[in-house]
Amino acid sequence: DGVGRHEIARRIRTIADFPKPGIQFRDITTLILDPEGLRLAVDGMVGAVQGPIDLVAGIEARGFVFAPAVALALGAGVVLIRKDGKLPGATIAEDYALEYGTDRIAIHADACTPGARVLLVDDLIATGGTARAAVRLLRKAGATVEQACFAIDLPDLGGADALRADGITVSALVA
Ligand code: PRP
Ligand code: HPA
Repeated sequence: DGVGRHEIARRIRTIADFPKPGIQFRDITTLILDPEGLRLAVDGMVGAVQGPIDLVAGIEARGFVFAPAVALALGAGVVLIRKDGKLPGATIAEDYALEYGTDRIAIHADACTPGARVLLVDDLIATGGTARAAVRLLRKAGATVEQACFAIDLPDLGGADALRADGITVSALVA
């Protein structure tokens, strides 16, 4: 296939029982260690983008690996979506549910000019809680968010479908 899905999939390592018993952790560190893997992943994300993009928003921490590479290819800038409390300027924040409790992500309040076309990027979508909070945050900041791309989708967890219900075109390199 066009994006070499098997070539990407075979470079992703699965580690059993991390961070908890029963979890099969999909590890992208082995994908990006390999120059060809890194290039295939970035090219695959770039190739899924439709129409012009002004900013690529990466989600801490592993989204930061892919967002700048995709942005350079698209001629776009980069927005950092960070865990709350890390950004130095005035921020807006959004809470999202974890299995136990909640977490909070933030962006600089002035990161997006009104109507800026923002592509959301992360390494993986599972329940979609993180990505959906990121979309709410970017939209609160005035951005137009219509597309998101991930290296990995875990479709059984329903996150990509939930994100689609929020009006986002979702692409993933492997499922
Ligand atoms: C992982 C992953 C996504 C998120 C996906 O990040 O990189 O950001 O979880 O899960 P969800 O779809 O169920 O929200 P994590 O929270 O482990 O943070 P890290 O990248 O800082 O390790
Ligand atoms: N790998 C990486 N991050 C994750 C995973 C996974 O399998 N599940 C939820 N977040």
